[in-house]
Amino acid sequence: MGLAGGPSAAEEAELAERAARGGRLVEPAEDLDDRAAEAALRPGSLDDFVGQRAVREQLSLVLEAARRRGRAPDHVLLSGPPGLGKTTLAMIVAAELGQSLRISSGPAIQHAGDLAAVLSSLEEGEVLFVDEVHRMARPAEEMLYVAMEDFRVDVVVGKGAGATAIPLHLPPFTLVGATTRSGLLPAPLRDRFGFTGHLDFYAPDELEQVLRRSAQLLGVELTAAGGAEIARRSRGTPRIANRLLRRVRDWSQVRGTGVVDADAARAALRVYEVDELGLDRLDRSVLDALCRRFGGGPVGLSTLAVAVGEEPDTVETVAEPFLVREGLLGRTPRGRVATADGWAHLGLRPPLGAPLQATLPLGDGGDGDSQDRDDDRDDDGDDDGDDDGAAPPS
Ligand SMILES: Nc1ncnc2c1ncn2[C@@H]1O[C@H](COP(=O)(O)OP(=O)(O)O)[C@@H](O)[C@H]1O
Ligand SMILES: [Mg+2]
Repeated sequence: MGLAGGPSAAEEAELAERAARGGRLVEPAEDLDDRAAEAALRPGSLDDFVGQRAVREQLSLVLEAARRRGRAPDHVLLSGPPGLGKTTLAMIVAAELGQSLRISSGPAIQHAGDLAAVLSSLEEGEVLFVDEVHRMARPAEEMLYVAMEDFRVDVVVGKGAGATAIPLHLPPFTLVGATTRSGLLPAPLRDRFGFTGHLDFYAPDELEQVLRRSAQLLGVELTAAGGAEIARRSRGTPRIANRLLRRVRDWSQVRGTGVVDADAARAALRVYEVDELGLDRLDRSVLDALCRRFGGGPVGLSTLAVAVGEEPDTVETVAEPFLVREGLLGRTPRGRVATADGWAHLGLRPPLGAPLQATLPLGDGGDGDSQDRDDDRDDDGDDDGDDDGAAPPS
């Protein structure tokens, strides 16, 4: 089940479904096209990994110290939005330790037995990567606590009153967990990771560096201005930068000179409807609905999602973080509101009395976590007025 490198059937199905839903160009989640292209572009060592200086330095210390002691390092949790390099770092951890990597994911572990099978096949020192670790089933989660702390799995034999738990000892291994929603991780699980690295959006010059590296690997000629133009529209996300680079390359090969320069980038991204800030059609339609249909808010997440014909989860995890980060949309206890910059980006003037939201800073690990916890409450649909469930007008 998703072991030893290959994506699991569940992951494949999910990716296929995502691709079928129309594969947005600036969606940070990967699609099938990405998977092959990304494998070729993934940096293989910490030295090749661009940006994230703090995480890189901390992780290199953790790994080096473990290497010197000749022991498996502490378990590592990587958190942050999609496309920032969590999977890449997990692979790098294994590579730097000279160990093989076993790959699984939360959605693939729906029963404790699934996890027991994965754990009991681990060999000494191996690195187990569990992607989307917050989506594991509860009983499996509890099994994982014990495995992480005591390197033991209790295998239950028999049923009912006669059932007995037989402890199975595991060789020391390192778990690398990745999550886009660290706030959804139960505290006991979170506490069992010895090191947590929070990945943040990349600065434009870091994305330019990613693009230069990728262009070289793809054999594409990229000018400095072309790189800057693509970086600016990549939502701080290397996965998107690489994807836009491939699309601009396509454009340039068909309609341009084959070189990826600023003109090619602008023309191609106009074709793909990615605007100067990197907003795509979904982002703009969320902002547009918020301003034109709801007068700038406040409006509940699910209402907004219905208005743009998307799942609340998609609006919340894909469009919103970026709109918030760009200071175009704010989250308040009463719902989503447009900021002055949000109105301006659509070329609109806010009506008098619109509930303008001051531009919120966003980004560091602490903020992300508390934001996630708020999300958690939202998911539960409590009474913070956020999910009013009202039908949108018209
Ligand atoms: N720091 C980085 N330096 C260079 N390329 C990166 C970096 N982070 C991510 N990438 C590129 O972006 C792609 C997506 O990264 P990935 O690790 O799959 O993200 P995540 O698992 O966080 O969604 C990778 O294929 C890789 O090519
Ligand atoms: Mg990943």
